[in-house]
Amino acid sequence: MTAAREVPDILSAEFAEDPYSAYRIMLEDSPLIWHEPMQSYIVSRYEDVARAFKEPAFTTDNYDWQLEPVHGKTILQMSGREHAVRRALVAPAFRGQELQAKFLPVIERNSAELIDAFRERGTADIVNDYARHFPINVIVDMLGLDRAEHARFQRWYTSIIAFLGNLSQDEQVAADGLRTRDELAEYMIPIIRERRRSLGDDLLSTLCAAEVDGHSMSDEDIKAFVSLLLAAGGETTDKAIASIIKNLLEHPEQLRAVREDHGLIPRAFAETLRYTPPVHMIMRQPAEDVELGGGTVPAGSTVTCLIGAANRDPSRFANPDTFDIFRDDLPTDTAFSAAAQHLSFALGRHFCVGALLAKSEVEVGVGQLLDALPDLELAEGAAPVEQGVFTRGPASLPVRFTPTPRARTSA
Ligand code: HEM
Repeated sequence: MTAAREVPDILSAEFAEDPYSAYRIMLEDSPLIWHEPMQSYIVSRYEDVARAFKEPAFTTDNYDWQLEPVHGKTILQMSGREHAVRRALVAPAFRGQELQAKFLPVIERNSAELIDAFRERGTADIVNDYARHFPINVIVDMLGLDRAEHARFQRWYTSIIAFLGNLSQDEQVAADGLRTRDELAEYMIPIIRERRRSLGDDLLSTLCAAEVDGHSMSDEDIKAFVSLLLAAGGETTDKAIASIIKNLLEHPEQLRAVREDHGLIPRAFAETLRYTPPVHMIMRQPAEDVELGGGTVPAGSTVTCLIGAANRDPSRFANPDTFDIFRDDLPTDTAFSAAAQHLSFALGRHFCVGALLAKSEVEVGVGQLLDALPDLELAEGAAPVEQGVFTRGPASLPVRFTPTPRARTSA
């Protein structure tokens, strides 16, 4: 556990600026670190992070204090039979066929509307004009909520994300997050009750009607799941889309290949997930003493699993610091399933429920952006930087392109 080289503190400005250099040192010299201020062990190697995701000894009890205050109790905290039942209740709505049949038009429409707002301009910020709105608008529409509320959901989403990432415990941010929890409950509970009385063809109705072995979800359970979707399905996909475009813009030959063959988008997405994952770290809490990273992690302690480091472990990926959509050690056919080689959707029982939804959104979104924005390149002088430590993506992504006429009239 003694570091040969000093590892930058994961809460330092130096780490926030460039976590990847720190990951290299951890992978080589310090596979297990005790971090006093975070009161957490930190692991970085692929094998250790994968074990923490897959082995039952590692619980998700940490979400009791990380997420429950703002969302209420969610699937992420559950284990054993309770988790299996909840998963069986919500997962069918996110499977491939259900998604394609019901929600592909929703995804296509929301992407096209956002692009229409800037395609005639010749300039845009892919983060602020597109990525941060697209997944939230999709979720609101999938749930069958009022499209006029997109802006309100955007505000709630921003406040929930700020609450979850409030490392410095800013009082204003904390108070705002708790207010959002109450506002969201006040808004959602009457709608859920009403929807139970007249079910439709939307995701909220599916959740209301779902039943497995005599179990169903209460109004509060559904409200908590909707709140989780805003964070789990919003911020992640937001950052994924911005990152895939940034990675491609920084590798023009690969951008050209994807432009010529949209069938390469899933490859580019899989490599983006590995190279610049939206979620860089998640925690686990072992229920018993475990051997990990060459040391012992005691029962009840917190382990921070560095996905961003594990995805660049040279024992697993050749030239791990190179973005290469054609690499042969990251199969695309498993990249959006629990058999994925990268760890960006986690593995095991909490493997991301929305992986196929994220894939559909990225395929549609990137395809439409490339088609609508010819000659897309970074705006002159733009040098986009990544931001965030727990979740991470470009802070902004100013681009320019040859203007094109609108494809449709926005609603
Ligand atoms: C690129 C986009 C995405 C990334 C990188 C991502 C990442 C993750 C990760 C790492 C986990 C596991 C957390 C843990 O084990 O502690 C997870 C779980 C989850 N994700 Fe995603 N996610 C994405 C998109 C989505 C979308 C679009 C949705 C739904 C709208 C979604 C819904 C969920 C849910 C409900 C869980 C909890 C599953 C469970 O506890 O069984 N995610 N996601």
